[in-house]
Amino acid sequence: MHITVVGTGYVGLVSGAGLADFGLNVTCIDCNEQKIRDLRQGKVPIYEIGLQEILGRNVKNNRLSFSTDLKSAVQRSLVIFIAVGTPEGQNGEPDLSQVESVARSLGEYMDEYKVIVIKSTVTIGTGRWVRNVIEQNQRKKVKFDMVSNPEFLREGSAIEDFMRPNRVVIGTDSDQAAAIVKDIYRPLYLIETPFVVTNLETAELIKYASNAFLATKISFINEIANLCEKVGADIHPVARAMGLDKRIGPKFLHPGPGFGGSCFPKDLVGLAKTGQKFGCQMRIVESVLEVNKNQWQFVVQKIEQALDGLADNRIGVLGLSFKPNTDDIRESPAVSICKRLTEGGAHIQAYDPVAIPNAKRILNEERISYCDSAYEAASGCDALLIATEWNEFRNIDLERIKSSMRRPIIFDSRNIFEPEKMESLGFKYFCTGR
Ligand SMILES: NC(=O)c1ccc[n+]([C@@H]2O[C@H](COP(=O)([O-])OP(=O)(O)OC[C@H]3O[C@@H](n4cnc5c(N)ncnc54)[C@H](O)[C@@H]3O)[C@@H](O)[C@H]2O)c1
Repeated sequence: MHITVVGTGYVGLVSGAGLADFGLNVTCIDCNEQKIRDLRQGKVPIYEIGLQEILGRNVKNNRLSFSTDLKSAVQRSLVIFIAVGTPEGQNGEPDLSQVESVARSLGEYMDEYKVIVIKSTVTIGTGRWVRNVIEQNQRKKVKFDMVSNPEFLREGSAIEDFMRPNRVVIGTDSDQAAAIVKDIYRPLYLIETPFVVTNLETAELIKYASNAFLATKISFINEIANLCEKVGADIHPVARAMGLDKRIGPKFLHPGPGFGGSCFPKDLVGLAKTGQKFGCQMRIVESVLEVNKNQWQFVVQKIEQALDGLADNRIGVLGLSFKPNTDDIRESPAVSICKRLTEGGAHIQAYDPVAIPNAKRILNEERISYCDSAYEAASGCDALLIATEWNEFRNIDLERIKSSMRRPIIFDSRNIFEPEKMESLGFKYFCTGR
C-alpha cells in the first residue's frame, strides 16, 4: 500500500518512518524545500533518539522517500495522512491554515477514492470542515473518506511511542476507511495494542481531553509543591504516596517550572476556546493554564529574591528545550525564564546538549552567551539554574561547578538534586516544593 504523509515535522517524520517500518511504501511531503533536500541527503532536521537509524533503514529498503511534489504522491497513494502544524492562532484557536492549504490541494489532485487521515491535533469539527474544503476544491468528483487518527507520541521517545502506542484512535463515519486504517496499523495487533474506533468528533476530542488531563496533573502537582514550600512539607513523598494509589498513578506528578512544548499550551487554549464557542466553559482547563502561566514566574521571583535583584548578576542556565531529549524549544519555560532574567538586567550563560541552534533563533540578545558545556555555563556565575532535567546534569561534578562559580547558589527548578547533599557541599540550594 502507498501512503503519503504531508508535513515532515516531529509527527510527520516519525509517522512516515514508522509506517515505512511497518512495511508500507511511504512518501513524506513537505513544502519546505530545504528540509526535503536535507532529508534526501540523509540529514535529519530534528533531534529525536533513533530517528536517523529508522529513516536510513527504510530509505535503503526503498520504502521511504521525500518529496515536495504532493500531486504525484497523492495520485499514487490510497491513504494521505495530514501531519502539518496547527500552531496557536491569534484568537487562541489553532491556526488551521496549513491544514486548509493541504486540503485544497488534496481536492485538486485526487483522481480516485482516497482516505484522508488527520493526524495533526485539531479542534473538534475540523474533520468535517476539511471534508467541505476538499469537496469545494475537487476537480474530479471522486469519493473519499475522512478519518481522525490523533497522534499521542512524546518528543524524546517519539519512535518508541509510535511503534508501541498505548492505544490507536480511529475516528470516522466510514467502515471502509476504518478497515483501511486498521490494516495500516496491523503490526500493532501483534503487540495487543488497544484500538478505539469511533466517530470523527469523538476522536478529535479524545486527543484534546488526553492532553488536558495530563497538563492538569502537572499544574495540580505544581500547586501542591508551592503549598509544600509554605507549610514545610516535602513534595517528593507527597507525589510518591499519591502516585502509589493506583487510581492516581505516578506519572506526571513531578513538580517544576510548568509545562511547555508545542502541544499542551496550545491544545489547552484550543479546548478552552472550543468550550466557549459551544457555551460550555472549561473551568478546569482555564485554571490549569493560569497555574502554568505563573509557575515559571515563581522561579524568576525566587532568583530575584535570593540575589537581591537581577541587574548585573550572571546566571548560568542548564537546559533550554521544554523537556529533555528534544531540541524543541517551543513554549519552553526555560526560554521564558531566560527572557525575563535578561529583561531584569541579568547576564545569561546558557548550555543545552542539543537545543542551542533553535534557541539562538529566538534568544539572541547581547545579554545571553551560549556555552559548550555545563561547566562553562556555571563558570563565574552568581547562580546556576537547572531549567531542563537532561540526564547529563544529574551526574555533573558539583565540586567542580562550585569552585568555578562566583557565588555557590543553585536553583534546581526540576528537583534533580537532594537538598541535604547540596547543602553539605556548601551550596545555597533552592528547589521546588521541598
Ligand atoms: N510535536 C509533538 O510532540 C506532537 C505530538 C502529537 C501531536 N502533535 C500535533 O501534530 C501536528 C504536527 O506537529 P509537529 O510538531 O510535527 O509540527 P512541525 O511544525 O514540527 O511540522 C510541521 C511541518 O509541516 C510542514 N508544512 C506546513 N504546511 C505545509 C503544506 N501546506 N504542505 C506540506 N508541508 C507543510 C512544515 O514545513 C513542517 O515541516 C500538530 O498539529 C501538533 O499539535 C505534535
